Amino acid sequence: MGGTMEIVELKKGIYWVGAIDWNVRDFHGYSTPSGTTYNAYLILDEKNVLVDTVKSSFYLEMLGRISEIIDPSKIDFIISNHVEMDHSSSLPEIVERIGNPVVITSERGQKGLEKHYKRPMNFKVVKTGDTLSIGQRTLAFVEAPMLHWPDSMFTYVKEDRVLLPNDAFGQHIASCQRFEDEVGDDVMKHAAKYYANILWPLAPLILKKIDEVVKMEIPIDVIGPSHGLIWRKDPGRIIQAYVEWSQGKTNKKILVVYDTMWGSTEALAKAILKGLIEEGAEAKLLHLRSNHRSDIIEEMLEARGVLLGSPTLNNGMFPTMGDFLTYMRGLKPKGKFFGLFGSYGWGGGAIKEMRKSLEQEKFNIWEKELTAQYIPDPEEIQKAIEFGKEFAKKVL
Ligand code: FEO
Repeated sequence: MGGTMEIVELKKGIYWVGAIDWNVRDFHGYSTPSGTTYNAYLILDEKNVLVDTVKSSFYLEMLGRISEIIDPSKIDFIISNHVEMDHSSSLPEIVERIGNPVVITSERGQKGLEKHYKRPMNFKVVKTGDTLSIGQRTLAFVEAPMLHWPDSMFTYVKEDRVLLPNDAFGQHIASCQRFEDEVGDDVMKHAAKYYANILWPLAPLILKKIDEVVKMEIPIDVIGPSHGLIWRKDPGRIIQAYVEWSQGKTNKKILVVYDTMWGSTEALAKAILKGLIEEGAEAKLLHLRSNHRSDIIEEMLEARGVLLGSPTLNNGMFPTMGDFLTYMRGLKPKGKFFGLFGSYGWGGGAIKEMRKSLEQEKFNIWEKELTAQYIPDPEEIQKAIEFGKEFAKKVL
């Protein structure tokens, strides 16, 4: 494995030693068509530090990259910023390989790592404000509970102005490039999808944490997240985007998210879309079996309104709508206005079930509903167009 890997340096003496997962396509319910990376970082100084590890199946890839730079047994400290297994499951092996280095983590990090790996490690618990001198450099730690797990923590390299915030500011992209300035603007789309599907429920905490970090007046040249590309050209760009997403910045976008059995709900959806467009909305039609739930969530991030349509199946909503609403509810998208429509053969029930599901999270839902029995006739289609227009007027 030696002598073949390109060495990637963020700043002099700070290296990326992670792994590229080209093939992962599903990340616990989130579709990752571009794969991802697990980013680990190596800092060489009087004491050598490994910041985070990789998913265990990529242990040898990480070890290979470290070995290109130093003998792994010369690592003194491992910082575990986050317990989730995509960053910690190589820890037992690398600890074994190095020979019991000090493992620096938060208090909850230690508890989590003990519960995961059930082996003794030489833990050192740190909290916000604690620092560690490793020679020329000082590492500072900032606890970031619930960003996105209770154990989450950021590591900051003071002299080099490098922030290593683990999952925050990441994107699921596997590529040959390691830095955001080496790729096109596509990176922001990936970052938005990542934010919407992972961090959205934590928006208030994100705003608080960013405010806290800004008040600390720590200059940031480079942000090295634990997934995807490293922000070095303009790290302020991703911080600003996080602020805007967390504040709920929207545009004139309205989504029509639906499924259909025999085309009736789809006919309503298309008529509603027509009405929305006529009122100047940037409307989008998203069929639930043609779009992955995590892509629809990304579309929702900057949308102002969402119309949900389902046919009635066995007195309830269509299963794909149930899947979507369960997923969406967990992400607690704030500040959206919802509308409901659907078709039925005899009893109906889809809309009632959808409303009940949305009410569990106290979403803002339009009282007015649109339904059609069997196949909508021209009058019902016209009503659907008007329904779309009225919705757009309320939302825009
Ligand atoms: Fe990338 Fe929360 O793990």
